[in-house]
Amino acid sequence: MIDFHTHILPNMDDGSQSLEQAREMIKREQAEGIQDIIATPHFYADRVGMDSFLSYREKSMQAVQKMMEKEMWERPPRIYGGAEVYYFPGIGRASEISKLCVEGTSLLLLELPFSQWDQGVYQDVAQLAEEQELTVIVAHIERYFEFQKKKDIWDAVFELPVYAQMNAGAFLTWKERMTSMKLLKKGYRLLLGSDCHDLDRRPPNLAAGREVIRKKAGESFLEEIDQNGREIMRR
Ligand SMILES: [Fe+2]
Repeated sequence: MIDFHTHILPNMDDGSQSLEQAREMIKREQAEGIQDIIATPHFYADRVGMDSFLSYREKSMQAVQKMMEKEMWERPPRIYGGAEVYYFPGIGRASEISKLCVEGTSLLLLELPFSQWDQGVYQDVAQLAEEQELTVIVAHIERYFEFQKKKDIWDAVFELPVYAQMNAGAFLTWKERMTSMKLLKKGYRLLLGSDCHDLDRRPPNLAAGREVIRKKAGESFLEEIDQNGREIMRR
């Protein structure tokens, strides 16, 4: 199992606030059977420079690795440095954006606007995917859905060769579950993430979300999600 969306790296964003908290979050992930954790701290181009973001992330990653080594964890999960990159107009042509891909891959976790998407959004995503040849993962797709009154841009975005990441938590509340199930069955290239930020309010919950998918939609959805995950990590 791979968790494609986490805020476990300490002191990077509104996620984990200390090494101790990061340790507990990673332990929970490990207990759920997750072997690969993609660390995706928020990146906002208007708030932080690329170089300082990357060096900060490196330090945070090293602290976590050192902690796991020092405590001699048995079969520690692999942690990959990535980012949750917030959309800005023109991102499709931004030349340095590939530096924010998950280390060693061409995977870019992209957070899109929480408003009606327009032609510009579509064009930027298309440029990232087709001109920059990045594998775009649209973060937590269920969170934008209600804003898309005109569905043509939405449909066009998911006709691009992009992956659709859903949050496990979206299957866990009754209120969100109906929309999430609908999106799950649309035939997008799906991936799952916990989008965990802490231990209580937005905790690691991938296993619980998967259980709901298994019960309500069937094992085949999980098999496809896991296959997508394995396949995509080779890019
Ligand atoms: Fe996130």
